[in-house]
Amino acid sequence: MTTKTKLILDCDTGTDDAVAIIAAAKHRDLELVAVTTVNGNVPLANVTENTLRVLDFIGESVPVYVGANRPIVRDDFPVPRSILNSGAAMHPEYLDLPVATSKPQDRSAVEFLIEYYSHEENQDTVLVAVGPLTNVGLALAASPELAQRIPRLVIMGGSRGWGNVTAAAEFNIWVDPEAAEAVFSAGIRDVTLVPLDATHDAPLTIEHCDRFRQIGTPAGIATDALIRHRIEGYRVQGETGAPVHDALCIAYLVHPEVLSDVHEWPIHVETRGERTIGQTVMDHRHWASEKPNARVALRADAQIFADFLADAFGA
Ligand code: RIB
Ligand code: CA
Repeated sequence: MTTKTKLILDCDTGTDDAVAIIAAAKHRDLELVAVTTVNGNVPLANVTENTLRVLDFIGESVPVYVGANRPIVRDDFPVPRSILNSGAAMHPEYLDLPVATSKPQDRSAVEFLIEYYSHEENQDTVLVAVGPLTNVGLALAASPELAQRIPRLVIMGGSRGWGNVTAAAEFNIWVDPEAAEAVFSAGIRDVTLVPLDATHDAPLTIEHCDRFRQIGTPAGIATDALIRHRIEGYRVQGETGAPVHDALCIAYLVHPEVLSDVHEWPIHVETRGERTIGQTVMDHRHWASEKPNARVALRADAQIFADFLADAFGA
């Protein structure tokens, strides 16, 4: 019997975060220790309610800790949410699941992260961040020794040269660029970045949705609806499938071979540019003097990804 990989999932539950939660909670080789919520796709209260709705629907009792309701430095997104009006189609304010009956924990996400990792026996737990990096940045600022206590950090975010919220920036990094730069500069020893380049290389399709629904479990049925919603959102761009960004990070924990074209590069985040704020600047010059601070994957395999999800939903 393989030892389960323990993880904490920090998310801004939207539709792809929801699939990540389901896969992390259900796969036999994973132990979802806790979920922390952060302002992002939708306002914090919605993120937390959506997270609780997902866990209740699949019948999993996992502690949920509420995190930051705004970026670390700025009082809103670089373009306020009220003006931004992007992503609304992809992430409904409330997921179409029964209202949650479970409640979040009393402690905040930042207090939980600092206290959890202060115990040596917990320092084998992977931290997976699939929303803006505000909670991780705040925890590192309050307790810098956390950088040595988090054994592995997997981040969904960034991109090599293009963006989805602006021409240059990916949403998670863009929402809180100062937090993201602090996280990349903190010295965490094992950081893997799963950027848009990889997530868009493994889109899931209606055929995958049919497969998940036919499994017949609440996990498969919920995921079918969540991904169909995403596919509809991408259809306007002429796509026939949809990236399910956050869940790809969970697949990577069990099947690292799902990602390929992997490089070790120095990565930093633009925090000032008028048109480039939130861009992940990946220094791939072979003569770069700075040491790499992250592993970046640029490709992914949709078949391995879909098989992993089906395996999780059938559990
Ligand atoms: O850019 C994609 C990322 O932004 C995903 O994590 C999605 O859930 C949103 O948070
Ligand atoms: Ca997310």
